[in-house]
Amino acid sequence: MESLYDVFRRRGYNRRDFLKSVLLLTASLGLPPSAFARAVKVLDLKPKPVVIWLEFQDCAGCSESFIRSTSILPSDVLLDYISLEYHETLMSPSGFYAEEAKKEAMERYKGEYILIVEGSITPKDKGIYCTVSGKSNVELLKEAAKDAKLVIAVGSCASWGGIPHAEPNPTGAIPVSQVLEGKQVVNIPGCPPIGDVIVALIMGLVITGKAPELDSFGRPKTFYGQTIHDRCYRRPFYNAGKFASSFDDESAKRGYCLYKLGCKGPITRNACATVRWNGGLSFPIQSGHPCFGCSEPDFWDRGFIYSPLSVVEGEFSWKTALAGLAVGTAIGTASALINRKLQEGK
Ligand code: SF4
Ligand code: F3S
Repeated sequence: MESLYDVFRRRGYNRRDFLKSVLLLTASLGLPPSAFARAVKVLDLKPKPVVIWLEFQDCAGCSESFIRSTSILPSDVLLDYISLEYHETLMSPSGFYAEEAKKEAMERYKGEYILIVEGSITPKDKGIYCTVSGKSNVELLKEAAKDAKLVIAVGSCASWGGIPHAEPNPTGAIPVSQVLEGKQVVNIPGCPPIGDVIVALIMGLVITGKAPELDSFGRPKTFYGQTIHDRCYRRPFYNAGKFASSFDDESAKRGYCLYKLGCKGPITRNACATVRWNGGLSFPIQSGHPCFGCSEPDFWDRGFIYSPLSVVEGEFSWKTALAGLAVGTAIGTASALINRKLQEGK
């Protein structure tokens, strides 16, 4: 079977490109420099990782992000190197033949394959809102997860329920981990997540042979250990109290902090400010748009995306303001009544 280096060569890349990709990979995984030589050796010899990719309540945006990964492994090399045994959108067989291919892969690579799940799960009404080949999504997920080496929930829908889970959640959408209680699930949230992060985690599993270190929400610490705000290049403006107050004023042109335009960077854990998007080219804040916290649970229900965090989360909220207004009005009315009674001498 071809090694990763063989694939690079066949695709017209040289040894330098290969080493650069492996270096980027080990660095992005937070592995020590000593791991580089081992990674080169492993990726020269190890067989392709087998991946089964299931899509449930999703928009296929996570798949789009994955196949456009560029900085860690060029996308043409990636799809050649990973043995993607089942992916409804990318595979050429369909219907009966696609389902047979999945069944065969699950038997042949029992205990060895990586199961990637995109989209939320809908158990409501016996799962009728998402079925494939007559089986409910819950049934399909449990069946594929049983013999998987590792389960990865890719995207905010699979990790938290995502947009389908937003109020009023008509299909009863829930995350993958809620169906697979007791089985380790690696969450890679984001709407979508960064393609390079998905690739790095798959390749990391090939190199180290084990799941990455996770936080209490099941997210890999390497990529979700810090907030966007922790690593944002606009942070000096935030610290200096310099904020853009509209998208087209002088302060926006000067690149001031986007907090007042609704930036949720201070509460959002993701690698956008460091890994960035499109081969490290940019990320929302660098393009002038506030982060709206797409990798956090319930980001869609958290209020208007352009409302500042202070309005959405606490220092000021409409609920608090209305409650305050009601209490203030009641106190005002009561004191006016008392004053009138006092003036009337009662
Ligand atoms: Fe923080 Fe957002 Fe301002 Fe960046 S733009 S410093 S993430 S509030
Ligand atoms: Fe999402 Fe914020 Fe990154 S909106 S893409 S987590 S900058």
